[in-house]
Amino acid sequence: MDSIKFLYDHALVPADHLSKSIQVLEPLIKNAPSLGISTVVGNAESIAKVKELVAHKQKHNPAMMIVVGIGGSNLGTQAVYEAVYGKEGNPHFPLFFADTVDSDYIHSLLQRAEHALKNKRNIIISVISKSGTTTETVANFECFLELLKKYHPNTYHEFVVAITDEGSASWNLAGKLKFDRLAIPKEIGGRYSVFTPVGLFCLCFAQINIDELIYGAQKADTMSAAISASIIAYHYAHGKNIHDLFVFDSALESLGKWYRQLMGESLGKDGKGITPTVSIGSTDLHSVGQLYLGGPHDKTTAFITINRANHQVNIPKMDEFNTLVPHLQGKSLATIMKAILEGTQKAYVQNKIPFFTYEIPKKSACYIGQFLQFKMIEMIYLGALLDVNPFDQPQVELYKLQTRKILAHE
Ligand code: PA5
Repeated sequence: MDSIKFLYDHALVPADHLSKSIQVLEPLIKNAPSLGISTVVGNAESIAKVKELVAHKQKHNPAMMIVVGIGGSNLGTQAVYEAVYGKEGNPHFPLFFADTVDSDYIHSLLQRAEHALKNKRNIIISVISKSGTTTETVANFECFLELLKKYHPNTYHEFVVAITDEGSASWNLAGKLKFDRLAIPKEIGGRYSVFTPVGLFCLCFAQINIDELIYGAQKADTMSAAISASIIAYHYAHGKNIHDLFVFDSALESLGKWYRQLMGESLGKDGKGITPTVSIGSTDLHSVGQLYLGGPHDKTTAFITINRANHQVNIPKMDEFNTLVPHLQGKSLATIMKAILEGTQKAYVQNKIPFFTYEIPKKSACYIGQFLQFKMIEMIYLGALLDVNPFDQPQVELYKLQTRKILAHE
């Protein structure tokens, strides 16, 4: 297996600062398993349970899986699913994500699910919530459960899998309703849970090779993660409090959103925080490129590029178009994209804008797993460098509490 390349020649951090920062992180680097998240990667018992349950649910000839969950309970799954299959997903084993309580969107998903049920196909509902009490998740789940009950009044429980904390109220209710259950390890918070049943069950259902995903995660390079964290922390200390993940492949947009949550919730506390943004190359060069190059110097950027696309598309040789844009004819789109990325990076160098690059060999489960684990480790190191607890999210709880109060009086 090749590795993801981490290139930081243009990070604009003095070498002596980097080595000092690595020294600070050394106890964490040496003691990787104590990071908590590393202990769940490759838990054989949990993986076996996931595979067994997927095999059992596949017997129902499902047309789709509805993933009901929000934030840390679905972003990682969506990130891997779209990175591997593209935004269209896997037509044979599609996943649909019911996260927010958007009437029109949920209505369209309900219609899609009902269409399958009417045509004697089945749906599997995977309801995922660590707390079990998230408003959006419970509301959406009830809507899909009602639909299931209409078509399977006596056996609806066969088509549901609940993934939650063992022993919680939702775990117990799921047991009472005879749903199959998978436990989320107690010590793992939502945004760090993609390699637990939270991510693995739905991804395995969608035919993603979860063994490869885990294998890749185990190969994440902790030293490069420490350097990456040190670069971001250095610039944060010097006023650059925005970090842009600039993905040069549109299938990685959800991966960018997963990282946005990881950084936002892990570091945004105690009056500190780095604002994460996601940009899509080359599309967003035509929207925010001017701001990035000509606006305030308040950002660091991490470019992500894929070395080998799944398919090659060549531009035909039509000489008459040479007058519009020369040197395109006969080249592949990947070659053009690479030139645009290199051109962008040259402009960043000219404008003294710090950046670093991850070169991912291809969009396979293995490399995506490696990248996700790399970024989770990086975030824990960033928590240490910024002196914040990267595992809690007290303010998110505040909005949840206020929402419940409002609903109680309506
Ligand atoms: O990362 C987190 O902890 C949060 O984003 C949660 O995942 C999110 O709020 C959903 O919570 P729950 O899984 O309890 O439904």
